[in-house]
Amino acid sequence: MAADGFQLPFTPEVERETRPVWDKVQRHVTPMEWRAQAPLIAAINRLKAEKDAVILAHNYMTPEIFHGVGDFVGDSLALAKEAARSKARIIVQAGVHFMAETSKVLSPDKTVLIPDLRAGCSLAASITGADVRLIKQRYPGVPVVTYVNTTAEVKAETDICCTSANAVQVVEEAARLFGTDRVILIPDEFLARNVARQTDIRIIAWQGRCEVHERFTAADILEIKAAYPDAEVLAHPECPAEVIEVSDFTGSTAAMNDYVLTRKPKRVVLITECSMADNVAADVRETEFVRPCNLCPHMKRITLENIYETLLTGRHEVTVDPAIAERARLAVQRMVDLPPPATPARYDLVKARHHVDVELI
Ligand code: 13P
Ligand code: SF4
Repeated sequence: MAADGFQLPFTPEVERETRPVWDKVQRHVTPMEWRAQAPLIAAINRLKAEKDAVILAHNYMTPEIFHGVGDFVGDSLALAKEAARSKARIIVQAGVHFMAETSKVLSPDKTVLIPDLRAGCSLAASITGADVRLIKQRYPGVPVVTYVNTTAEVKAETDICCTSANAVQVVEEAARLFGTDRVILIPDEFLARNVARQTDIRIIAWQGRCEVHERFTAADILEIKAAYPDAEVLAHPECPAEVIEVSDFTGSTAAMNDYVLTRKPKRVVLITECSMADNVAADVRETEFVRPCNLCPHMKRITLENIYETLLTGRHEVTVDPAIAERARLAVQRMVDLPPPATPARYDLVKARHHVDVELI
């Protein structure tokens, strides 16, 4: 059955059931679209209960997924923690493939499903397990910290994983555990450069890039600031360092969400994937969002239609070779077991303490 071939009726019952979701998403969805989406949301929520499934939805999912069917929503770190904790029999990953693999690694006895197997990631595609083995030969004794945006095969070669929410904390922890002043932080070059500016640990980096965040430039930010002088600019740490330099705050998708929810700025710009602002805007009506953004083509492969199809058919199951999963689990679990990263008490600029450069492999 084609994923877009479901024609479920928009009944008064469906309308009633999905009204709270409509109240949230109506500024981002047209009434015409809603007539197709609402019956799918109602059907997905029924199927989840029948099949003992939960949906883990990343902050970059479109609003009808994020607010309509996500049981747990958040950044990569929050979703990994939820995968480890969840009691459900089935996890549906409304996100990209590396996230589904991370869920499987942490919950080997559960069935992990992804609605579209093509939902990849340019960072995960930038490095292989064989690359990491060569790096370790070149830098013996230097701990390897790997961003979760990698395959399970790469995580298996890793000492400890990190996300954008805890990268500085993990790098410092790895250096402490291994008694070194150098850490290999791969594969995101820009995350590595941004971490290097917030720690005294020397960073060895790989030249992987997020295809969404690498496209922002300092000139884009300065142009926005000139047009909207009162706008607060929050940038994801996968952006180039020159972008962070001219932004007002940098943090993971969860940290950005937290910033807006807590501070309710008059006007804000989220330098990240497009759905992020839509999802936060649904919760914070008093803030105006200026919206330059880039779409992640991988995240956008996940739709209500293919989530429904996944729950109906059990396609596509994500598996990880048990030997690889066992080694990858150590690296992910070490991260999950760390205390939560410190939320800035005041949302001052989390910016360069110094301009230390990274060593590129
Ligand atoms: P976080 O949700 O961890 O900030 O990551 C963003 C991202 O690009 C995930 O693909
Ligand atoms: Fe990968 Fe970037 Fe898309 Fe996240 S936003 S999944 S890092 S390509």
